[in-house]
Amino acid sequence: MRIIYEQKEMQGIADKYRNWDKTIGFVATMGYLHEGHLSLIREAKKDNDVVFVSIFVNPTQFSPDEDLDKYPRDFKRDEEMLKKEGVDFLFYPTVETMYPKNFQTYINVEELTKVLEGQSRPTHFRGVTTIVAKLFNITKPHKAYFGQKDAQQLIVIKRMVEDLNIDIEIVGMPIVRENDGLAMSSRNKYLSDKEREQAVCLHQALEKAKEMIDAGNYDVQKIKQEMEKVIYNYSIPKIDYISISNLTTLQELSQVEPSNTLISMAVFIGKTRLIDNLWI
Ligand code: PAJ
Repeated sequence: MRIIYEQKEMQGIADKYRNWDKTIGFVATMGYLHEGHLSLIREAKKDNDVVFVSIFVNPTQFSPDEDLDKYPRDFKRDEEMLKKEGVDFLFYPTVETMYPKNFQTYINVEELTKVLEGQSRPTHFRGVTTIVAKLFNITKPHKAYFGQKDAQQLIVIKRMVEDLNIDIEIVGMPIVRENDGLAMSSRNKYLSDKEREQAVCLHQALEKAKEMIDAGNYDVQKIKQEMEKVIYNYSIPKIDYISISNLTTLQELSQVEPSNTLISMAVFIGKTRLIDNLWI
């Protein structure tokens, strides 16, 4: 695996593979890799001639009161994991090269980013779409892989790609979970032992919702109430939001729409904000 730090060099490599008619699969990450990230990489390996992965903790998607400085990092460990997966190129730029002094251009997906994560984190998606567009221009992939773990991110990126005629296929991949159901996340590292036990409440609340829907109960109010009960049973005091929305528009529903509903949530486990979701 070659590690590339410079944008021009990465673009040159991408051009070379494209000239050779080789397909490029791309996975963007912020590092501190886990099986969730690896599932995207494995799918990219299956589908493409060559796989590019990026590691970049993107400052513009963190607000000043968020965890940019303490976001977990372990480059050596990540590098070993990526080598084992047979990744061909790792793009590992610095903040200064990605955001030089005069940087002033941002991409904003207007409506989809006003709700859910966007409501709690108003500047987050502007940072995500901007960095993802930059990474697309640098790695020039045919296909790019994103996890459903960040459901709104995936939906927003698909919107951006369509709206801006970006010629890349966006592939969404299922959530990878720990044995007890907790969705894998780099941020799980922040949890104390007790919080780690409590954190399973997100998945359990989603399971409760699924159970109710499977039994034919489509009433959103009732489902949300039962989900809250599951969470409060774990003595978790702070739910940021529980949402049952249309999968395309992300607008809140009063009745579940079979095969077009996203149930998503953000919950504070102590100081750590975790998200999880379920696609119906
Ligand atoms: P990061 O949180 O590192 O996630 C990188 C990719 O891995 C995203 O597409 C995310 O949805 C996916 N992923 C994370 N946990 C997963 C899980 N448990 N199962 C399946 N996929 C999972 O998301 C970001 O970084 C950044 O916002 C980024 C897109 C890199 C832009 O900075």
